Order: sequence, then structure tokens, then C-alpha cells
Amino acid sequence: MKSIDQLKNEHEGIKIVFRVLRKMCESLQSDHTLDFDHFEGILEFFEIFVDKCHHGKEEDLLFPAMELAGIPRQGPIETMLSEHNTGRGHIKAIRQAFARFQSGDTAVSGALAEECEKYILLMLDHIYKENNILYPMGETRFSQETDEKLYQEFDTLEAERIGTGKHEAFHQMIDQFTQIYLD
Ligand SMILES: [Fe+2]
Ligand SMILES: [Fe+2]
Repeated sequence: MKSIDQLKNEHEGIKIVFRVLRKMCESLQSDHTLDFDHFEGILEFFEIFVDKCHHGKEEDLLFPAMELAGIPRQGPIETMLSEHNTGRGHIKAIRQAFARFQSGDTAVSGALAEECEKYILLMLDHIYKENNILYPMGETRFSQETDEKLYQEFDTLEAERIGTGKHEAFHQMIDQFTQIYLD
């Protein structure tokens, strides 16, 4: 089902960024070093790509389509929505800790790394549940027509919220960070 495959592919991209972030947090904790521009890039990826775009597709398009297909909102959909909100709280906390670190407060480095790890753990569990519980519910219930419509709507939402240029820039950033931090 191509609409849901698009979301699963995005999960894989997000997981790569988590591996990069864990590497960054290792040096942050061992010697308080952090590349500010790289970390800012990761935060933007979380705020724009993960939250505005990926969670936007789920909240504004996928979940309503699932409700229309007979999956009640009470249950997995509500849990996913509440986890998106918890994630937003973690991102805010990471932003605040990063601002303190940037202003020279290196004592915050442990707390910054911990906040990142909390977000990563929440999201890895969230992605696992979507891939293995929620998405299969849609896959068994959506018609080919619904799948096509959702796929088109995902593309429109993405173009409106991040734009094609920014999408490409995120891809390049992930490739660059993979080489720097994971090779
Ligand atoms: Fe989600
Ligand atoms: Fe997701």
C-alpha cells in the first residue's frame, strides 16, 4: 500500500537520524563537544520533517481516514496522538537545553543528552507500534482508491509544509551526517 509505505520509509529516515544523534550525544557527554550547526540541523529535522510533515500526514490525513474506515479513535489512534504531543514537549526541552549549551553553559550537556535520549526512546517505541499495530489496521481496511487519494494528499501536504527544496536539503543533510558520524 503506497501511502503507508511512504510513512514507513520516513520512519527509516528518522531512525538513521536517531543513530546520528546518539553519536553526537556520545561526544557531548564524554568531552562536552557538539557541532552547533549539525545539532541545529537535527533539531530542524525534528521540528519540520518529523513534526510538521510526518506527524501532520498522520494527524490530518491518515488517522481521519482510519476513523472513516471504521477504526475507533479511542485506542491506538488516541495513543499515537498523545505520544506526538509528548514528543513535542521533549523537542521543546531539547531546544531550551541546547540554547543554554550554546550560550556557554557546558554543565547542561548531560541534561541535553538525556533529553535527546528520552525523545529517541519515545519515538522508537512509537514507530514500532505504528509499523506493527496501527499501520497494518489501515493496510487491511483501505481500498485502492483510498490509498491513491491518501498518497496524493500526503504529497500536497508535504509540498505545502516543507517545500521540495527543503525536502531535498534534509536528504542531503542525512547523507552528509551518515558519512561523518556513522561510517
Ligand atoms: Fe506517529
Ligand atoms: Fe509515524
